[in-house]
Amino acid sequence: MANTATIEIDGQKHEFPLIEGTENEVGIDIKSLRAATGGCITLDPGYKNTGSCESGITFLDGEKGILRYRGYSIEELADKADFLEVAFLLIFGELPTKEQHDKFHADIKSKSIVDDDVRKIIDAFPKSAHPMGVLSSLTSALTAFNPSSVNVDSEEDMYNSVVKILGKFPVLVAWTMRKKQGLPLDYGSNSLGYVENVLKMMFKQPNEEYVQNKIIVDALDKLLILHADHEQNCSTSTVRIVGSSHAGLFASLSAGISALWGPLHGGANQAVLEMLEAIKEDGGDTKKYMAKAKDKNDPFRLMGFGHRVYKNFDPRAKIIKKAADEVLADLGVEDPILEIAKGLEQEALNDPYFVKRKLYPNVDFYSGIIYRAMGIPTDMFTVMFALGRLPGWIGQWREMRLRKEPIGRPRQLYIGEKHRMFKSVENR
Ligand code: SDX
Repeated sequence: MANTATIEIDGQKHEFPLIEGTENEVGIDIKSLRAATGGCITLDPGYKNTGSCESGITFLDGEKGILRYRGYSIEELADKADFLEVAFLLIFGELPTKEQHDKFHADIKSKSIVDDDVRKIIDAFPKSAHPMGVLSSLTSALTAFNPSSVNVDSEEDMYNSVVKILGKFPVLVAWTMRKKQGLPLDYGSNSLGYVENVLKMMFKQPNEEYVQNKIIVDALDKLLILHADHEQNCSTSTVRIVGSSHAGLFASLSAGISALWGPLHGGANQAVLEMLEAIKEDGGDTKKYMAKAKDKNDPFRLMGFGHRVYKNFDPRAKIIKKAADEVLADLGVEDPILEIAKGLEQEALNDPYFVKRKLYPNVDFYSGIIYRAMGIPTDMFTVMFALGRLPGWIGQWREMRLRKEPIGRPRQLYIGEKHRMFKSVENR
């Protein structure tokens, strides 16, 4: 393969280096494009063909449905690792030894207390507030209570910031849910595992002992792993670009939470359940919703279907679909919504519109069914996505800062008015 790409403009040829990634992906390095061509830029709304960075964290192959974190397949990690191991792997690059894992968890526990004044902030929100808006605000507020910005060049400082946010974020997640339910805000227990503690903080009733259910603990641990990173998706790119201005880690994460909230992104898991509920209310009329999804005059899309990168099955969706069957069976939950989802999936997989556009179920299509079986409210589904994605956001932010990436500042093609003179109000 040639090692350069040639662009010809007005008869003049310009050569740009080709760079190849570990998995033989090829990028055209256009860093010199504007200078070499006297100001020419590329245009790529949504960055469908544009790489923002080189990264060694997550590899996706959309055509083959491959997902790997630091070289390990998502199938192996979901089956054999626990969430803290995967968090350590994504952030620091290697699976932890037993000693590292135990120290990581102990350090996270030691930093999990949230300043009690945060309760005053959460008290100010109406119960009607969407949990993602509350969580984004509380995460940004952590900056106020932890003002020292992280020195990324100090491994110790970076490590301390990582264990601090991994310790405090689950508390904010639990408090966000319980505030809406009018339940007291408390802490779990440092005697518990990371995921067990999340569940206890979320679900312990003030007048009852909380009894862990291993099925739910294992299912949530797996779901958090499956959501932990996904290369340069919308929210991760947001975390990176905010961090590229050297804004702090917590402020960058807060921005990522807001990006994830959108129904085209992480908000889809809530939108999927609302769609399935609507279909159920409609007597299970999946054909009506398939027609709406294909109608260009109808803004409705089949939520939980399609993906910017996967033009094959999302490997996470396959794992979650299997887990949904197992968890509901183990819990003895009969959920008609699961049958509607399976019916919709079969219809879409055999519909020419979806087949032609390579629209398959994505990570959000089945996850909500498991969250619901766990008793998690629908409007908390995207918060659970954020809890899983936290280590990925941290790892990507750290990589961007360690590689000393420049501040993100895209160009544009101006299509507005040419220069014109001011008109006084009398003459307008
Ligand atoms: C996540 O990027 C990531 O990695 C994200 C994520 C992660 O882990 O971070 O994987 C998590 O966000 C998963 C995606 C969750 N979103 C949804 O489920 C919402 C529904 N899906 C769509 O909105 C859409 O598929 C996107 C946003 C996910 C991807 O959109 P693209 O890549 O911009 O594709 P497109 O809009 O250009 O669609 C191509 C064609 C269009 O039709 P034509 O104009 O070619 O005729 O496919 C159609 C679209 O109208 N299409 C759909 C559809 N998705 C795409 N039609 C009906 N239903 C859908 N869901």
